[in-house]
Amino acid sequence: KKILIINGPNLNLLGKREPAIYGSDSFDEFLSHLQEEFPQVAIDYFQSNVEGELINKIQEAGYDYDGIVLNAAAYTHTSIAIADAVKAITTPVIEVHISNTYSREIYRHQSFIAPVCQGIIIGFGLNSYKLAIQSFL
Ligand code: DQA
Repeated sequence: KKILIINGPNLNLLGKREPAIYGSDSFDEFLSHLQEEFPQVAIDYFQSNVEGELINKIQEAGYDYDGIVLNAAAYTHTSIAIADAVKAITTPVIEVHISNTYSREIYRHQSFIAPVCQGIIIGFGLNSYKLAIQSFL
């Protein structure tokens, strides 16, 4: 199977960004562990801080991959355009979050993306990505 992980804005800073909330592991390190754990899965990774680049990637991958694991970060709570892109494609998408967004500020309680996803996995740290990949297998 072929799975794409897409991370949105500020997730390039994982490991040094608010470690009390997001942990102290960098995503690159985590990704190599993930690939070792799922040798039968081809895992690709894309990160951007730019909304349009995330949309371009969703469109590009959305008819080809077996699954997309999407952490749109703050765009989750603002982006109708990303939600529309997810709706447009045929590849199933799982929304993930590292932190439990429902235990945080009220503006993190709304997701434009959740209603158009196959499922959502929220609040399990980096393990959220692993659970999402398992759900595609
Ligand atoms: C996040 C939660 C979002 O509210 C926040 O803007 C992020 C990270 C998470 O994975 O916990 O950047 O998506």
